[in-house]
Amino acid sequence: MSSDLKLDDVEVILETNLPLPLFKRGKVRDLYDLGDKLLVVSTDRISAFDSVLPNGIPYKGEALNRLSVYWFNETRDVVPNHIVSVIDPRTVLVRKAKPIKIEFIVRGYLYGSAWGKYKDGKDICGIRLPPGLRKADKLPEPIFTPTTKAEVGHDVELTRRDVAEMIGRDMAEEVEEICIKIYETASRKAERNGIIIADTKFEFGIVDGELILIDELLTPDSSRFWPIDRYEPGRDQVSFDKQYVRDYLISTGWNREPPAPRLPKYVVIETSKKYIEAYERLTGRKFR
Ligand SMILES: Nc1ncnc2c1ncn2[C@@H]1O[C@H](COP(=O)(O)OP(=O)(O)OP(=O)(O)O)[C@@H](O)[C@H]1O
Ligand SMILES: [Mg+2]
Repeated sequence: MSSDLKLDDVEVILETNLPLPLFKRGKVRDLYDLGDKLLVVSTDRISAFDSVLPNGIPYKGEALNRLSVYWFNETRDVVPNHIVSVIDPRTVLVRKAKPIKIEFIVRGYLYGSAWGKYKDGKDICGIRLPPGLRKADKLPEPIFTPTTKAEVGHDVELTRRDVAEMIGRDMAEEVEEICIKIYETASRKAERNGIIIADTKFEFGIVDGELILIDELLTPDSSRFWPIDRYEPGRDQVSFDKQYVRDYLISTGWNREPPAPRLPKYVVIETSKKYIEAYERLTGRKFR
């Protein structure tokens, strides 16, 4: 961890207001419309339980953007992506795509909503897993568990057949193959750096009929990252993702309706450290 990095009283960027037409303000990113391209600024906003929290997390936007850029580079031989150029540490110029309204999730471990379903004896996206698995166990092989990308309300699980009906069978097969391949390649790389990628989410879009990866890639916001040396199946896992923030929010008794409570300083700083550490461990590079 970069001991030279000051996390106290760092200016955070919660919202940008560039003199450009706004394309969309997501929960984390501000996107500006440049015709066939978009300027994507990753802010320091953090969301949990579908609400954007009042606090910013120092360096979060940078960590997310730099990690995404790293992985987009690592995976460009598997699938083309939206990156055109890196403008600054939190900003990229990308190809504007028509987003496919599906969250393409790959899981290598049994956790989160998938564990919840399994525990209740249910299939996950039409997949039946073998009996006797514990929470956080490694799966016999990675599984593809797409969901809808709901504008409002909760995401709904999709089976292979659902995806094929939405985007056609050929593209559905292609996307699944790409997702599994990237998950496997990235997982091997991450494991060498002491990190388990328990699961991760991909977004795809179409540009001129071509399928490309968009949004973010293999970041703590889109993935569950676990330090290998703390991995212990059968219980909740220590992680580099937002679980720390979620746990704090749960401890406050917040009813999960906006507005979300303000995070105390120690939670903000711990969270910032987690994002920076995820970047450093996965890339093997110093953050600064
Ligand atoms: N190359 C691209 N072309 C078009 N849209 C993109 C591209 N890359 C990302 N997006 C979209 O921009 C948004 C990114 O912003 P952010 O991640 O903050 O939003 P979000 O709150 O996670 O997303 P959403 O509002 O869709 O749930 C997402 O809606 C994503 O689908
Ligand atoms: Mg997003």
